[in-house]
Amino acid sequence: MTDFAARIRRATMAEHRDAETRSFISRLMAGEVSYAGYAALTAQYLHIYRELEAAAVPMRDNVIAAGFADPVLDRVPSLEADVAHLGSAAIEPLPATRRYVERLRAHCHTSPAHFIAHHYVRYLGDLSGGLMVGKSVSRTYGLGREGVSFYTFAGIPDAKAYKIAYRERLDRLPSVLGPAVLDELLAESQLAFRLNAAIFAELGDRHPAAVAAA
Ligand code: HEM
Repeated sequence: MTDFAARIRRATMAEHRDAETRSFISRLMAGEVSYAGYAALTAQYLHIYRELEAAAVPMRDNVIAAGFADPVLDRVPSLEADVAHLGSAAIEPLPATRRYVERLRAHCHTSPAHFIAHHYVRYLGDLSGGLMVGKSVSRTYGLGREGVSFYTFAGIPDAKAYKIAYRERLDRLPSVLGPAVLDELLAESQLAFRLNAAIFAELGDRHPAAVAAA
């Protein structure tokens, strides 16, 4: 890993540690979230990914962002299947989810730096810890494959290789973006973590610790 991939990882390390240890997601992995809580999380994700993947469409014509906006990553079809299975298709966005979606809508359709920041936080996370979360959730709720398809990338058989190529794309950014824009990208990736954390906090308030029954 050379420069920029290491920089963005470092810039978001504290936020990531929080997500790993104190968030709704870490409780989810410990089997301490009710089925309703998991269904509500999946519904929130659908609202977020609809906006992120709507932004990916114009970004495919953007010379800087096009390599990131790979349709093989698309999560909306999986999330639609999951919420249908979990019975949470009608759940409205939480206030924190609305704020996240508004941020994506305001910046990610037109600014490659903002788009890449949000893209990195979600998809590289989904391709890392997300795979573990999926296995754990499937076991906790006895779900098999249905209701957890968000966590499986059918078009990416080798997540490790995909992430190596992704980090190479990150490393090439300093040759096409100036230092001020790179700093903006780093700041936006920290904001993206905070926007996620705010959703986890609201879900945690609405779904306090419970033993998850399958
Ligand atoms: C219990 C929760 C979590 C666990 C156990 C976890 C675990 C991991 C692990 C092991 C990696 C390193 C993978 C590698 O280097 O190949 C990773 C990377 C990452 N995770 Fe998480 N994660 C969690 C939550 C999250 C959340 C909630 C987000 C974002 C909202 C996130 C975003 C990321 C990102 C962006 C990376 C890539 C870091 C980089 O190499 O640049 N993670 N995660």
